[in-house]
Amino acid sequence: MNRIFSGVQPTGNLHLGNYLGAIRNFVRLQHDYECIYCVVDQHAITMWQEPAELRRATREVAAAFIAAGVDAKKQIVFNQSAVPAHSQLAWIFNCVARMGWLNRMTQFKEKAGKDRENASAGLYVYPNLMAADILAYKATHVPVGEDQKQHLELTRDIAQKFNNDFSVPDFFPLTEPLILGEATRVMSLRDGSKKMSKSDPSDYSRINLTDDADAIALKIRKAKTDPLPMPATEAEAETRPEVDNLLGIYAALSDRQRSDILAEFAGREFSAFKKALTDLAVEKLGPINADMKRLLADPGYVDQVLKDGATRARAIADEVYDIVGFLRP
Ligand code: AMP
Ligand code: TRP
Repeated sequence: MNRIFSGVQPTGNLHLGNYLGAIRNFVRLQHDYECIYCVVDQHAITMWQEPAELRRATREVAAAFIAAGVDAKKQIVFNQSAVPAHSQLAWIFNCVARMGWLNRMTQFKEKAGKDRENASAGLYVYPNLMAADILAYKATHVPVGEDQKQHLELTRDIAQKFNNDFSVPDFFPLTEPLILGEATRVMSLRDGSKKMSKSDPSDYSRINLTDDADAIALKIRKAKTDPLPMPATEAEAETRPEVDNLLGIYAALSDRQRSDILAEFAGREFSAFKKALTDLAVEKLGPINADMKRLLADPGYVDQVLKDGATRARAIADEVYDIVGFLRP
């Protein structure tokens, strides 16, 4: 059976990269798969989070899933800490994964920065918890942005070593990443060499899912570009990282090919393209923004979705303990 699992951290500032790289694909895939979508609050606390803000952001991510179109009645939407199997299986995986494997993880290096000695131990074993999220449900496919590719390779290594160590050859599946669309790595609007990120100190670097039409227009107008007109070919666009990024965003939001968009805009003033991109972004994100606001005005509803999702998730997640040899009295 094919089953999807994916997660988003409730660390504030959900942005266009989260939407195009992940959440939009969650919606598109739900027609062909059984899907489990998780607000990974335990991953969030690998870096310090204010408790009140963590609660708010957890509801906000759940609201974004629903507002974007995830059907929470058919699919499972829940927060990670509500299902103990995630941390329990993560402990088993802490004993399966090797230090050498974790030492290669680039996200740890980026997030820990120069002061590695001061990073939380949780940040170091973060990928083991991510593998546990996925494998607790034996998920076969995981839609994510490009930046999560390495973590999914580690998930496969963990699954393989577990299956081998416990002589259960096909117990955990070798999960496939689904990195889909024209914008699998959306870059900062201020610097085409940096990923769009929730934690960038400049709010102008990203379009937040909570931005209204005026904010979206202002950010696109101020987005870094060069003085040249729109390029004519994809190869030319690739030599101009900020231009290439906006082109990718346009392609993804409009579900069109880059070449098709270039055919329309080649040689025209960049400001004309920015104007069209603004209209498109407002058209696509406006309804999501409005629906998120509506949902967040009624936290009781979102909390009920999470609670119901956790009950259904828990029921799927338990089988592994017998295999490890844990007594379940
Ligand atoms: P995070 O915000 O780190 O929890 O990421 C949630 C999802 O969004 C993951 O699938 C990421 O790969 C994806 N994502 C995060 N940032 C970007 C980005 N700049 N471009 C595309 N996908 C992204
Ligand atoms: N590490 C992912 C990120 O930062 C979030 C995540 C946690 C995840 N567990 C997951 C993604 C399981 C996919 C599947 O983006």
